[in-house]
Amino acid sequence: MLSADQIYINNVLAKSLNQKDTYDPYRPLWHFSPQFGLLNDPNGLAHFNGEFHLFYQWNPLACEHGAKAWGHATSKDLLSWQHQPLALAPTQDFETHGCYSGSAIEVDGVLELFYTGNVKFEGGDRTAYQCRATLESGSQVEKKGIVLELPSGYSGHVRDPKVWKHADHYYMVLGAEDLDYKGKVIAYRSTDLNNWQLVGEVFGDGLNGLNSDDFMLECPDLFPLQDQHVLVSCPKNWIDVDGRKVETFDVTYHLGDFDYQTGSFGHGEGTLMDHGFDFYAPQTFEDDAGRRILFGWMGKPDEFEPYQPTIAHGWIHQMTCARELIIQDGKLKQAPVSEIKQMRAGAKEVSGSQVVLSGVSSELELNELLGKQLSIKVSADLEILVDGNGLTTHRRNLKTGEIQSLVWQGEVEQLQLLRDASSIEVFINRGEGVATSRFFETEQDAEYVGGFKLESESLLSGQFWQLRAPQS
Ligand code: FRU
Repeated sequence: MLSADQIYINNVLAKSLNQKDTYDPYRPLWHFSPQFGLLNDPNGLAHFNGEFHLFYQWNPLACEHGAKAWGHATSKDLLSWQHQPLALAPTQDFETHGCYSGSAIEVDGVLELFYTGNVKFEGGDRTAYQCRATLESGSQVEKKGIVLELPSGYSGHVRDPKVWKHADHYYMVLGAEDLDYKGKVIAYRSTDLNNWQLVGEVFGDGLNGLNSDDFMLECPDLFPLQDQHVLVSCPKNWIDVDGRKVETFDVTYHLGDFDYQTGSFGHGEGTLMDHGFDFYAPQTFEDDAGRRILFGWMGKPDEFEPYQPTIAHGWIHQMTCARELIIQDGKLKQAPVSEIKQMRAGAKEVSGSQVVLSGVSSELELNELLGKQLSIKVSADLEILVDGNGLTTHRRNLKTGEIQSLVWQGEVEQLQLLRDASSIEVFINRGEGVATSRFFETEQDAEYVGGFKLESESLLSGQFWQLRAPQS
């Protein structure tokens, strides 16, 4: 008799054997993407035994959401990734509908993994178990079972454990929905990683003067940075779009002070972390050099996912680049990690007012932009405009064909753009604002850009590089 895990792995293997190796214009040259199937949230990020570990939500069996597994990849430089064996498959009674998102922490030379066992019942109800697994160097992930059952006072939506250590205790934050349908972040404490005691509600409606109708907070990440704490979370809400109720997928951060005794978090205003079309469920970790590094899912589970053309190639979605976080002038700033510079080749000065730069995988830096108006075409379907209003990304919707626009408001002084085969990450004023989006073009397209086309009334100045994917 084959075990449930062996059956699952055989099914994944069958998928991989049928993955066709055809020309794929959308496949990123250096961003992480799944070999096949659907990728969403980054999970279990860690710098462990000299290697970076990226686990991720993965449905290896189809390009759609479903009972998620954890995929796993490692890297020495945050740029090139080696795929590793499947880390967690949803094969036990406590995770029938997915090994959902979670995090990692190294304890005594072992990488401890925490994730949510998601269980759905007929009729629409669900429950959630917080589970533990371990990875020892040179071996495979081992499940250790449930460490926390569903707490009372919350619906079945309690998930995405993020664990860290402070003084003598381990802490865990979870995203939750309370019984009044209000999103909450709740905190637990443990000394042994198996027994967890509730510390309290950290964030959400009615706490610290917040008045909010967000119904769920997904993927909370609470971490110390410089002399403050940062809470990153994904508030879920509904908005009205042409009379239709549409779910939002935003990511916000709050800066504040976390009280480890009571769990209370005194915080300022929330700020949106990205102003592009594709950024959700980010996670951070601290590397051995003490940097706070973030990866985000370059996607959203919206109604447009099924129209992404990569599905015809057997895969969907990718991660962002690795970004270093710092607090400066009271703001959380995100900038690509310095390792990205290792990929730079063929430096070129940018000058003039109409500039065409070819390079599917490339980087563009523009300086002295204050007061200038500028158009940056990245593909026929994606254009970035800079003007007195700020920076706007215009993109053609894959389903409706309409042009949609998202704005970062502020004064643009400097830009750094990282382009890959089907993605663009725009860093404004050295990380003060970010706009992350996917786009899909092929050389056959009438208005193929394959790089950047700049147009301005003013003279532009900056630098341009090809980005050469490192050999793995
Ligand atoms: C966020 C999320 C998490 C959940 C996971 C499931 O994108 O919905 O809350 O754990 O994805 O794949």
